[in-house]
This record gives sequence, C-alpha cells and structure tokens, in this order.
Amino acid sequence: EMSPEERHFQEKVDAEVRIEPKNWMPEGYRKTLIRQISQHAHSEIVGMLPEGNWLTRAPTLKRKLQLMAKIQDEAGHGLYLYSAMETLGADRDEEIEKLHRGEVKFSSIFTYPTLTWADMGAIGWLVDGAAIVNQVPLQRCSYGPYARAMIRVCKEESFHQRQGYEILLTMMREGTDEQKAMVQDAINRFWWPSLMMFGPSDANSPNSAQSMAWKIKRHGNDELRQRFLDQTVPQLEFLGCTAPDPDLKWNEETGHYEFGEINWQEFFDVLKGHSPCGVERIQQRKSAIDEGQWVRDAAVAYARNQERKAKS
Ligand code: 3HC
Repeated sequence: EMSPEERHFQEKVDAEVRIEPKNWMPEGYRKTLIRQISQHAHSEIVGMLPEGNWLTRAPTLKRKLQLMAKIQDEAGHGLYLYSAMETLGADRDEEIEKLHRGEVKFSSIFTYPTLTWADMGAIGWLVDGAAIVNQVPLQRCSYGPYARAMIRVCKEESFHQRQGYEILLTMMREGTDEQKAMVQDAINRFWWPSLMMFGPSDANSPNSAQSMAWKIKRHGNDELRQRFLDQTVPQLEFLGCTAPDPDLKWNEETGHYEFGEINWQEFFDVLKGHSPCGVERIQQRKSAIDEGQWVRDAAVAYARNQERKAKS
C-alpha cells in the first residue's frame, strides 16, 4: 500500500515530471539509481583500460589521436556519472572503494582482453554501438541529473561508434588477407559479449520491473538487445564479415533477426568475478589511484596555500 508521498511521487513519474535532487523520493528509488549510475560510471572508467592497451600501438598518428580522444571522452562520461550519482547523496570515494572490494560491478564487456588492433574497431562499433542503444532511452530517465548527463554522452558515443566502424571498414577494404582475418577474429570475440551488455533476459532481470515502473528503464533488456542486433547485422554484412552465430537469420514475419542462445553461464561467471581480465583491470584501477595520491595531496596543499594567501 503506497503512502501519500509515494502516491504523489508515482503520479509525478507517470505524468513524465522529472524528479530532481531536492524532491522527495522513495528510498528504493534513490538506492537503485545509486546502484545503476555508480556501476555505469565504473564501467566508463574501467572501459578506458582495454583501449589504453593499444594507445602506444596505434598504426598511425590519426588512429592514435582518435583513440586518445575516445578514451578521454570515456573519462569524462565517468566523471559526469559520478557527479550525477553524488546528487543522490552517494560518496564518490566510497562507491569506488566498493568497486575495488569487488562488492559492485562494472560492465562485463570490459573483462575481456584486447588482443589485436582490430579489437579497437570492434569495441568502437559493437561496444559503443550497444552502449548507444542502451543510453539513448536513458535520456528520458525520470531522474533529471542522470537523463541530462546522457545527452552529451550519447553524442560522443556516436563519434566512437563511427570511428570504430571506419577502422574495420578500412581494414576490410584496404587490408591484407591477414588483416581481414584479424577483423573477423575481433568480431568473433566481441559479438556475444556485446549482446550480454544488455543484461540477463527479462525473465532473469530482478531490477527491471521496478525500474520500468519508476521510468528509470524505458525498455526491457531483451527489447534493447534485439534493437541493437537488428541495426548491427546489416552493418556486419556491409563489412563483408559474418557473426559467430549459425542461428542468426532474418525473420520476415517478425521483422527481426533471430539469434542463437546466449551463453548465460559465461555471463553469470563473469559477474561473479571469473573472467579473463576482470581482476587485472580492477588491480590496474587500484594502482592508478594509489600512484595518483601524490597529485591529490599536492592539489590539496596548493589549495590550502591559496586560501592562506587570500586570508593574509
Ligand atoms: N555487466 C555487469 N553487470 C550486469 C550486466 C553487465 N553487462 N548486465 C546486468 N548486470 C547486473 C545488474 O547490474 C544487476 O546487478 P546489481 O543488482 O548488483 O546491480 C544484475 O546484473 C541483474 O540485472 P538487471 O537487468 O536486473 O539490472 P538492471 O535493471 O540494472 O539492468 C543494465 C542492467 C541494462 C546494464 C542497466 O543497469 C543499465 O542500463 N545501466 C546503465 C548503462 C550501462 O551501465 N551500460 C553499460 C556500460 S558500458 C558503457 O557505457 C561504456 C561505453 O561508453 C563504452
């Protein structure tokens, strides 16, 4: 049974009235937003690492600059999202500590290795492509700061997706047979993990029902996964590549692509921490924070000196 405040809150959400930080909100709404936004921010920051692996190995200066810009964008997305999270009363350091203790997650996609340069193309095209499909509806999320953060994020992701696809198209059009095989290998390794980015099937999605009622989530996991697949298969064919899914086929009646069974065992193993690079990536984040402590100390000392000067 809803309390008068809860009923009033739900009426606002149903009427598409944005919820702002100072408005009353159910504790569960606050908690699930901190859960989702913090993990979204963690994903952006950890997501810089797989690409950072190829920054020093980019084949041309142009590719290096593009990759540098993309990685810097991801950092910015993370900072936007941590700021949106803080409007809910969450503490940034505390949430990052939870990540380092393995108590909260980051997107499964970033637990996979990046073995060749073609992976930079596959990540831009498939991973940022999936992220766009997932993030565009979040621009209409009922919580104002999260929705507004998504507007700029989505614009920048579109650039990431295009530069990723252009890397692969260049390799397929101008590359050697070995480079073409490298593209297909990258697609083979990132195809299924990209589909897993959308989360478990709706039947196994404990947060979906409540998130849909509160208009945090506008579409179910399976619907967005299908939307991503339907837009991606024609791009895959234009590349002249194939998907590692023998059951992938167009269904004229439904107007959608049918696809094979997702390896949910792999997905839940990754979520439990058993993944190719998950532990290593968190270790990298921890040492980055430790090694950067002197920068934060220096900034604080400098700020204190400035204050002292201003007072004297
Ligand atoms: N990786 C890791 N954990 C995942 C996951 C994935 N791919 N998919 C689902 N999960 C987790 C959920 O967080 C939840 O665990 P929790 O309760 O401990 O948080 C559990 O699995 C069950 O999933 P639900 O479907 O019930 O959870 P949600 O309703 O939160 O839906 C979601 C999952 C669709 C990922 C949703 O949280 C979401 O839209 N998050 C915001 C967007 C996001 O995080 N995108 C992926 C980041 S990649 C990225 O953006 C970087 C890009 O710029 C390259």
